Order: sequence, then structure tokens, then C-alpha cells
Amino acid sequence: MKRMALLDIEALSKAFGGVRAIADLGFVVEENQVYSVIGPNGAGKTTLFNLFSGIYQADTGQIYFLGQEITGHKPCRVAAMGISRTFQNLQIFFNMSALDNVMVGCHLRTHSRLWHAALRLPAVVREERQAEAWARQALQFCGLDKVAGMQASALPYGLLKRLEIARALATRPRLLMMDEPAAGLNDTETAQMCVLIRRICDAGTTVLLVEHNMGLVMQVSDRVMVLNFGKRLAEGTPQQVQQDADVIKAYLGGGEADGH
Ligand SMILES: Nc1ncnc2c1ncn2[C@@H]1O[C@H](COP(=O)(O)OP(=O)(O)O)[C@@H](O)[C@H]1O
Ligand SMILES: [Mg+2]
Repeated sequence: MKRMALLDIEALSKAFGGVRAIADLGFVVEENQVYSVIGPNGAGKTTLFNLFSGIYQADTGQIYFLGQEITGHKPCRVAAMGISRTFQNLQIFFNMSALDNVMVGCHLRTHSRLWHAALRLPAVVREERQAEAWARQALQFCGLDKVAGMQASALPYGLLKRLEIARALATRPRLLMMDEPAAGLNDTETAQMCVLIRRICDAGTTVLLVEHNMGLVMQVSDRVMVLNFGKRLAEGTPQQVQQDADVIKAYLGGGEADGH
């Protein structure tokens, strides 16, 4: 019997007007890997994440998660199945504490209704405690336990990037998609991010990574796919991809990788 992949993508396409952002794309992500998607600005990387998380609907093709088709599912349903993400542009509530920002993520996984909450039923109180415990664990995992009570607006950018990751992790996902986690970070913060990504994977969450920092990608990834005009240009180990002539020509060799 064929072993079930965590993510199995078949003939996926998505166009915006005349632009084919994702064009007949297929690939497989095995569990317990850091799998990176690289490619020039406009290659379709963020579109891919939006398709997986149910924000965009695919024009054609299928998305399977642990053998179950999730194509066309709504974002909350995808999240409840164990797919979580961070955003290229920070999605933080700046007037809330770090802890509350993370607990917002947990509530995806708890089921309390508003009128239950208003009555403070024991089940609600239990869920609140569960959410807070998971949130605090996620904060600690991301090295943010000391700033849990601070308002997000008071946190430096590097910590806000980690806060988004903590929120995504607090839902206990099987798959975490990270859209440019090192963008805007200095060298020290980037090195710390590299360690964090590896630890997330080692703790049992598969990571799908979009990132422009090639040093980070080549260091942290088990496999790398190069996307160009919505199509797969190459796929393999970091070493294989770095040596691929087409990749060098289209992307890696073209001077600096763009930052978007
Ligand atoms: N919501 C949208 N509406 C129109 N065009 C879009 C939308 N999202 C993405 N695109 C287009 O799809 C292509 C891929 O974009 P994107 O996935 O953001 O690329 P990347 O993340 O690799 O830089 C680009 O040409 C972009 O302009
Ligand atoms: Mg993008």
C-alpha cells in the first residue's frame, strides 16, 4: 500500500484574470520535514498557501491532506484539521497582550458558544484554561514566555514574527505554513529563526516554508521546490536544487534573490 503523504497536490491551477499564478502544479510533502518553496517575486508562493488554507478556491486540481481531500474547504475547516499558517504581512492585534494574541489562535480549536461563555459553564472554564495552557506552552516554545503579558505594540519586530508563529503553534497543527518568517530580521534573529524552525519540525510539526533568505532555506530544509511562473522548475534536496542548471539560470544565478 502506498504510504500516505501529509500533503499531496495534484494538477493544481489558479488564475487571476490572465495571470496563471499556479499552473498545473503537483508535488508531495512527507510528514516530519521542512519543505521549502522558493522562487522569484510573483512565482505563486503566497497563492499556494492561500489555496491550501482555503482562502482561495482552486480552478482545477486536488489538495489531499493525510489522504483526505481538502480542496475547496473553508479556512476554519482546514484549520480544524490541523493546518496552520503565518502571514507574509504580520497579522497581530497590537492593542492586545502577547498571550491574548496567541489565545485567539487557540479558540479555533475550542468549541464554546457565546451563550455558554456568558454563563461561565464549567466546560467553558475548562476550555479557557486549556487554551491558556496551550498558549503559554507555545509562547515558551518560541522564547516569548517572559513577554506574555506585554502589549503587542510594545514588542520589537523580531519578537512579533515569533508571536505569529506561537499563535499558529498553539492550535497544535500537523502542518505549519510559514510565509517569509525571516523577512526583515537581522542576522542574529535569522539564525534564531533557523533554530526555531528546525525545533518545530523536530517536535512533530511538518513545516512548509516560503523564504527568500537562501542561506536559511539551504540550512533548514529537507527538501526544496523551485517555483517559477506557477510551475515546478526543480525539486530535491537543497544540494540538488543548488546544482540544478535551470534553477541557477532562472533564479539563483540572477544576482540577488528579490525580497518579496
Ligand atoms: N488576489 C489576487 N488578485 C489578483 N492577482 C493576484 C492575487 N494574488 C496573487 N495574484 C497574482 O498572482 C501571481 C503570484 O502572486 P503571489 O502568489 O503573491 O507570488 P509570490 O508570493 O511568489 O511573490 C502574481 O502575478 C500576483 O500578482
Ligand atoms: Mg508572497
